[in-house]
Amino acid sequence: MGPIKLTPIYNETIWAGKKLAAIRGYDWHGQGTSWEVSIHPSAQSVVAAGKDAGRTLASLVAEDHDGMLGKLVDDQDLLRAAFLDAKESLSVQVHPGEEYANRVSHDHGKTESWYILAADEGARLVAGSDFSSRDEIKAAIDAGTIEDHLYHINVKEGDFVLVPSGTLHALGAGILALEIGTNSNTTYRFYDYNRKDANGNLRELHIENSLDVVVCGQRGDCVSTPIDGQPKVKRIADFPEYTVDLIDVCGSYVLPAHPDTFRTLSCVKGDAKLTETNETTEIAFTESVFLPASCGELQVSGNCRLLVGTPRPHSVMTIKEPAFHTDFSALRPGVEISSGTKRLKDIQNLFQNTEGVDPETILYEVKTDDGDPTVPGSLSYGLTTVYPVRINGECAFTRGHWHVDETVEEVYEGEAGEGLLMLMNHDGKTWCEKVFPGSVHHIRGNLAHRLINTGDEPLKVRAVWNPCAGHNYALTEQHPFTFRVFKENGEIRAEAHE
Ligand code: PA5
Ligand code: NI
Repeated sequence: MGPIKLTPIYNETIWAGKKLAAIRGYDWHGQGTSWEVSIHPSAQSVVAAGKDAGRTLASLVAEDHDGMLGKLVDDQDLLRAAFLDAKESLSVQVHPGEEYANRVSHDHGKTESWYILAADEGARLVAGSDFSSRDEIKAAIDAGTIEDHLYHINVKEGDFVLVPSGTLHALGAGILALEIGTNSNTTYRFYDYNRKDANGNLRELHIENSLDVVVCGQRGDCVSTPIDGQPKVKRIADFPEYTVDLIDVCGSYVLPAHPDTFRTLSCVKGDAKLTETNETTEIAFTESVFLPASCGELQVSGNCRLLVGTPRPHSVMTIKEPAFHTDFSALRPGVEISSGTKRLKDIQNLFQNTEGVDPETILYEVKTDDGDPTVPGSLSYGLTTVYPVRINGECAFTRGHWHVDETVEEVYEGEAGEGLLMLMNHDGKTWCEKVFPGSVHHIRGNLAHRLINTGDEPLKVRAVWNPCAGHNYALTEQHPFTFRVFKENGEIRAEAHE
């Protein structure tokens, strides 16, 4: 069976925009959402053309479950695709996970993701908050300061925003987005900017449900997918519930069959012809089709960007790529790594004599997968590379610090090069441990620590610590390490700090 075209189901909303109407040329009277693919009681997609025209997707599923959805797929694994066309911001809201939705709202949980088809200059949306507890949320409701806690992301065409269940979120004004998400219509409205509808009424809020399901501090990620005219296939969402693959087609592409599950396929740029055996379906900009599990290999021809949503059935154990590689390249969408470079000019007062040395000289770089300092059990993971630089004989080192919270320890592991880990207690007693590939260093919470490169290669050291530790640089400025390390004529020499 080939791709199935469905008739959009439009709904009017108080925040509706006209971007989709301008593209599709329909008569606009307040439509803000359009369900494109849906097997949900609140919106049943109907087949638009062909021998099954007029039948609901749900009735086709009832007739041939395995051929339509795939053997492994059941009711809780379904996906929906819908447009959100916002002239104004949507309410700040949160969706439940599967268990809470089943129990409280007789619906499914909702994890969603938004592909931005168009965004006005300066458009932004909400995807998360910095609340650290429910009490803090309640206090912000009472004080009217919710907006100060929301995490905003500026978006443009081609951005893809990931919103797992439990994330406070709101699509923003001036945005047309295609939402690919799990099959739910349960939204707990948390905050609505105190705005009124056409009859002067405030819309209902669901504060208690929101507080039950919100995951404090959770933020949505944004994946940028520039449109560069190059053919590519990229996984842009990798949720436990489903994946989304972006496919840029330049001329032709073969989409393999996927007999295990159905898929949704949406055209978010250009247009294309989809041929399965002898049957060709045209798909235009903004159109979506349902690909039944029994759909064979698809020949795609045209110049277009397609998004393919694929469910991850509950009955199958998922094996994912890890988040990132030891070189800190991201292996999954939405993984953010921070990196920083320290040059001589940033810490030159710490060296004995910087005369004649270029202040731009790079001393070290740090790459980090940051944990969250507001979460007590969080972990950060970093790689520090100290270069084999000598500043008038003095070996390059990291700035060095005590932790603000001295109960928090840290582990370093040598990976490449050779050097020293300098440690100092509060009496100013300073000592070092040798660092080499494979060396492990358990740094007690009350010791200042600094890496020093004494070799001829970059010194690479991995670190794991709880970000609640904090970096106390001020204290190390007040009480500098009591030794300096030099390397001259191949000899390491320590000199007491005057
Ligand atoms: O947490 C750590 O101890 C390391 O990641 C260091 O921050 C890193 O080596 C850079 O050193 P510093 O923070 O002293 O500049
Ligand atoms: Ni540290």
